[in-house]
Amino acid sequence: MGAVVVVGTHWGDEAKGKLVDILCQEADAVIRYGGGPNAGHTVQFAGTQYKFHLIPSGVLTPGVVSIMADGMVIDPWALTEEINALVAKGIDVSGLRISQNAHVILPYHRDLDMHEETARGKAKIGTTGRGVGPCYADKASRVGIRMGDIINPARLRERLEQIIPLKNAILKHVFQADAYSVDTIIKQLGTVTATLAPYICDTQALAHDLMDAGSKILFEGAQATMLDLDGGTYPFVTSSHPISGGATIGTGVPPTAITQVLGVVKAYTTRVGSGTFPTELLDERGDRIRERGHEYGTTTGRPRRCGWLDAFALTHAVRVNGLTGIHIGHLDVLAGFDEVQICTGYTRGGAALNRFPSGDVQLLDGCEPVFETLPGWDEAGVENATSYDELPNNAKAYIARVQELAGVPARFVSVGPGREQTFQLPDSPSAADIFNL
Ligand code: IMP
Repeated sequence: MGAVVVVGTHWGDEAKGKLVDILCQEADAVIRYGGGPNAGHTVQFAGTQYKFHLIPSGVLTPGVVSIMADGMVIDPWALTEEINALVAKGIDVSGLRISQNAHVILPYHRDLDMHEETARGKAKIGTTGRGVGPCYADKASRVGIRMGDIINPARLRERLEQIIPLKNAILKHVFQADAYSVDTIIKQLGTVTATLAPYICDTQALAHDLMDAGSKILFEGAQATMLDLDGGTYPFVTSSHPISGGATIGTGVPPTAITQVLGVVKAYTTRVGSGTFPTELLDERGDRIRERGHEYGTTTGRPRRCGWLDAFALTHAVRVNGLTGIHIGHLDVLAGFDEVQICTGYTRGGAALNRFPSGDVQLLDGCEPVFETLPGWDEAGVENATSYDELPNNAKAYIARVQELAGVPARFVSVGPGREQTFQLPDSPSAADIFNL
């Protein structure tokens, strides 16, 4: 028994997949509770590379139930491609389950995402263009199509006949764009329904059955804290709830069932898309981090903006997620600098802020980061390390300082993408024990 949530602490791309991969060896089920094909990560498994956008990476671990829960928005064509690609590589996807309540991204959501971004002009969010925002907007407006609808032809037609005229009115009259017909969408969905149908079910009931059976459940967050619709830097956010609270809303599992919340922190900070990024490095140090860390989007290929670790933003992530521990990754990417910096706070007009201003992006705009400088560590020292103890002392000092600023213990650190490059900290519970805390 035990329900562990893994969340990103900043603006996404913290490599949550690596911690998920380690914890999922101990779990009975992995549940993705939000987001859609805007997410993306690459997992290296038994010498083969797998790219995931929608399916929880737990699917690679035999015997683990992999659930795509209510809070997700699913592009059924992208999902079908992902399933087919895994099957073609010999992966058994029979443990996959898709919530009947998850919302379906349809072609007009992608069109609207693009037209809305263009209309925003200079204020554009820099969305991934996958139709995520418009799909969640339809969910909240109660004009969405859910995965359960696509396997119920009469209901699908009835819903689309109500919804398509509304969408066409916006597409035609607001954006002068092409309209959709109900028949075309039904026909397009017909190309994927047979593949997806066997996996669609009541995943709330399944999650409760798993809990009743005393299973160990891992909740795989997508995106990250600062991209949360309410907890993040609105309006430069995604349209879901990546924070730990999203794990309960997006699955039907109650907050009281969650036993641990682990935050995945990168040793530096990155951001994709628009919005204020106080610790951004616009010089060769940022370029160096981008190249060494291969900081280019898995979903869009866009170069990520890179900067020093924002530990002030991290304190916000600790609070809104209720973090019980952190994983500090990418220590290898930061290696080779003579000295590194950590942002410990912000000032505005010369005065120090006592809380990260997540709720007011205009306030964030005028903030100056306060940096602390620490000595760097060498590349060979982290590359050759096989345990935490073997890490260079300066890297250990950096880890200690991040823990201190976060106010929660580091459970794991990592120095590369391989499983063997993630180290448990001394006196820290093992991946198996984390489910028993
Ligand atoms: P959307 O989720 O496509 O609507 O994009 C909204 C904002 O969230 C944009 O700034 C995106 O770049 C950002 N975003 C969405 N998903 C991710 C992710 O997985 N990693 C990093 N940024 C993301």
